[in-house]
Amino acid sequence: MVDMRAETASLGWETCQAETVADATDQWLLDTEVSYRSANISHARHFSYGMLLNFDKAVDEMHLSEAGNRTQLLDLAAGTTWLTDLLAQRGASCVALDMAAAKYVGLESADVFMKKHLTYYERVLGDMNKLPFRDNSFDIVLSHSAIHHSPNIRDALSQVRAVLRPGGSLFLVNEPTLSLSGLFDAPITGEEQVRGENPTSLFGYLLALRRAGFSSIRMYFPPGLSHRLDTLAETNRLGDPRGKGQKVKYFFIGRILPLWNRSPVFRYIIRRYLFWPYAFVVGQFVIIKASKSARQAA
Ligand SMILES: C[S@@+](CC[C@H](N)C(=O)[O-])C[C@H]1O[C@@H](n2cnc3c(N)ncnc32)[C@H](O)[C@@H]1O
Repeated sequence: MVDMRAETASLGWETCQAETVADATDQWLLDTEVSYRSANISHARHFSYGMLLNFDKAVDEMHLSEAGNRTQLLDLAAGTTWLTDLLAQRGASCVALDMAAAKYVGLESADVFMKKHLTYYERVLGDMNKLPFRDNSFDIVLSHSAIHHSPNIRDALSQVRAVLRPGGSLFLVNEPTLSLSGLFDAPITGEEQVRGENPTSLFGYLLALRRAGFSSIRMYFPPGLSHRLDTLAETNRLGDPRGKGQKVKYFFIGRILPLWNRSPVFRYIIRRYLFWPYAFVVGQFVIIKASKSARQAA
């Protein structure tokens, strides 16, 4: 494993995750995907199945199998690398970068996946705000629930753009958006603060992408939200609201939207017109593809 950890990188993540994964085993790690698919709370939260649907959608859009050469893919802030491993299984030539090394939290977990699935990918211990790669190195960069941990998202995006090849794409997947309703919530404190949760609004992501020089930006209706709307059961298991804003949000998602969703006309309207205002007002995990122009060098 290449150790490029920057002095400035915050090391809070490993510490605050240590308790969460105190009972972890290699099998626990290998069960991550199964846990997500079955919404097992020990790996992820109740909406995890929807998150995996969003990831699947992004992977479809990466067209990994269609590329003649092996796609060079950077998994930014890859954590345990369970998604890097899935992408390596699909034929991508992957590099996983994270600032956490410890097994069950960070990059050392990859040994377990590689041994089990006979995959291989590089691991780089480093800071996503100081990317240690040559310009124009990757075809795809994935940020799965990751870039919102950067203290400076625009700066991190500029670096991502530099390491992408001309014509390459960044996928922001399951990045949470800050919502208007969040204005009424209690401020982020405790473990969330230590983990450096720093989401911006949907508008904030789009602006930061433009300012970082991405030329073509596309957003997808998240299949995870479709699933949530289609299955009241999962919706009703939404977690404890932190404040008034989240109560409104959960009432809206859990009670109002599913009712509308029963009508085909409203289903169409929700998907076609209501998602983006909804993401602005209520907050949502988004899937955004942003490309570097084929004519742009670093
Ligand atoms: C929510 S986890 C997501 C991990 C992985 N992408 C996934 O979806 O399972 C966020 C990750 O960001 C990493 N991280 C936070 N700040 C970072 C930084 N400045 N540079 C590199 N990694 C960072 C943490 O160590 C953690 O693994």
